[in-house]
Amino acid sequence: DLAYVNGEFMPIEKAVVPIEDRGYQFGDGVYEFIASYEGRLFMLEEHLDRLERSMRGLNFDPISRSEIKAAICDLAERSGYPRAGIYIQISRGAAPRNHAISPNISPQIIMTIRPVKEIPAAMRKKGATAITVEDTRWDRCDIKTVQLVANSLAKQKALDSGCDDAIFVSASGVVREGTSSNLFIVSGGRLMTHPLTNNILPGITRTAIFRICRQAGLDAEEAFFDTETLYGADEVFLTGTVTEVLPVVRIDGKSIGDGKVGPTTRQIYTLLRQLAL
Ligand code: PDD
Repeated sequence: DLAYVNGEFMPIEKAVVPIEDRGYQFGDGVYEFIASYEGRLFMLEEHLDRLERSMRGLNFDPISRSEIKAAICDLAERSGYPRAGIYIQISRGAAPRNHAISPNISPQIIMTIRPVKEIPAAMRKKGATAITVEDTRWDRCDIKTVQLVANSLAKQKALDSGCDDAIFVSASGVVREGTSSNLFIVSGGRLMTHPLTNNILPGITRTAIFRICRQAGLDAEEAFFDTETLYGADEVFLTGTVTEVLPVVRIDGKSIGDGKVGPTTRQIYTLLRQLAL
């Protein structure tokens, strides 16, 4: 498995960053995760757009898009992996620890590439289970920062309670997203997902789902909905770069619909795979 560190390629084990990198000390960094299908990077331009938005969101000095893109493509090619997961992280840079940002700091760009760790086939077939957790993240979840400790703790809480993932719900009961995925419900044949606000990540797969629905003539809309609506949905699924379209059949111990993977979820998964392959 390969890494890229500020312009150089090396084995992952050889790659290191300075201990005073602000990404490490302050969570002052942004990231992307992009997957390839048969060697083609899925929705690369959309990922680059979001990376630029994330950097602007943290007031980073602009970095050449073509340079980042070239490094990503180079890494993908060198690895030779047909189904690769590329992690890209850009931190503000390294400086003696200080909350105030040093004026002459330069960004650290690191990347890793590995074969995608696929969702187990059995989970795709039977559907996943989830718990809801209160969303205690900061209020700029639209920026893809490396501050993922709330996401990580929520995921672990789900696993420790025998479930597969956690769903973030606001203090007032609005259903937001998964720990590393967006969430859709299907009710009466209509798809619904949380609108793009500062409280969720604008997922690239989420965008793909809207395109798919338009083409397939499926009714999809952005709307706020609560946990009662979630529990009462006919189908629930999570979307993400690795997640793709993952059915959720049980939430907080309650069966969703008949507790089996639903037809709309299955159809959308098939259409997403067709789009990607
Ligand atoms: N996570 N919401 C959150 C909080 C996420 O972390 C992600 C992606 C998504 C889905 O976004 P996309 O469809 O662009 O992958 C939604 C990535 C995969 C990660 O953290 O590795």
